[in-house]
Amino acid sequence: KFSETNRPKILVSNPTVPQVAFDLLEEYCIVTKAEDDTREDILAKVKGVDAIFWATHLKLDKEILEAAGPQMKTVGTMSAGYDHIDVEELKKRGIKLANTPEVLNPAVADIAVLLTLAASRRLHEGRLALENGQWSPKWDARGMLGQDIIGSTVGIVGLGGIGQAIVQRLKAFNVGQFIYTGHREKEEGKKLGAKFVSLDTLIKESDIVIVSCPLTSETKHMFNAELFSKMKKTSVFVNISRGAIVDQEALVKALKEGQIFAAGLDVMTPEPLPPTDELLKLPNAVILPHLGSATKQTRDAMAQLTATNILRGIGDEEMFTPVYE
Ligand code: DGY
Repeated sequence: KFSETNRPKILVSNPTVPQVAFDLLEEYCIVTKAEDDTREDILAKVKGVDAIFWATHLKLDKEILEAAGPQMKTVGTMSAGYDHIDVEELKKRGIKLANTPEVLNPAVADIAVLLTLAASRRLHEGRLALENGQWSPKWDARGMLGQDIIGSTVGIVGLGGIGQAIVQRLKAFNVGQFIYTGHREKEEGKKLGAKFVSLDTLIKESDIVIVSCPLTSETKHMFNAELFSKMKKTSVFVNISRGAIVDQEALVKALKEGQIFAAGLDVMTPEPLPPTDELLKLPNAVILPHLGSATKQTRDAMAQLTATNILRGIGDEEMFTPVYE
């Protein structure tokens, strides 16, 4: 529906976006891509575009919107999370926003399971023992004992699409009970056999706590020293959401002092984490560099959905996954 003589202009903020998105957008639009994942490059190229394909953890804020100009009315972010986007500023300017929920649920839930198992069974500590020649020739029936998943109580903080996919996967491990917390009890929770509880109950009763809620002003630093002190000493803490939900200093202290057993983190503060960071020195912390959605199929699906949302947005059709109406 776009005219040949007046093709919409799109900025793709990152050159590493899967080709499927460029193929789709280039069929209908004039596409410019930032060559480099930096604000400077994006600011230099954003002027005059009709839409922005946001594929970066950089902040999309007033400065970028001002630089784009008042004709810019559509943003698609290639992510489920949109805490890096100034939603209020977009709304104020009548700009549409779409994200990529659902398509990444399986991949992110897989990473949550991976971290749960790895942290419970001391994967990092075991590897360090091997590297440091500490694997004793005498078999130690009491050495390197981990925590069982079977029979455990798993607490999910935020039973959205990803939280539900995590429960579905962990059911195969014969978990004792699933509990969850959030704003309200959910129909999906009933279907999965998960019980709705308060955050306080979840913290005290869970053997495994998995954070899968979005980062908002409400959840920022929700996991603080007080919460860690209430958790079981044998508990495992997993975060696949956003690092800022956790007071990381308090987490490091809890791991060092044995207030909790172990942690598995796909997200942290800052990202990238400096190689000298305290977290990386802890044998009981399994840490990944934010790989949740990092599979070929998932990234292709996210790119395709973002491009489609943008085309629909600038064509005044309903976007498939708008963040707000
Ligand atoms: C998401 O989609 O929000 C992932 O964390 C990737 O940024």
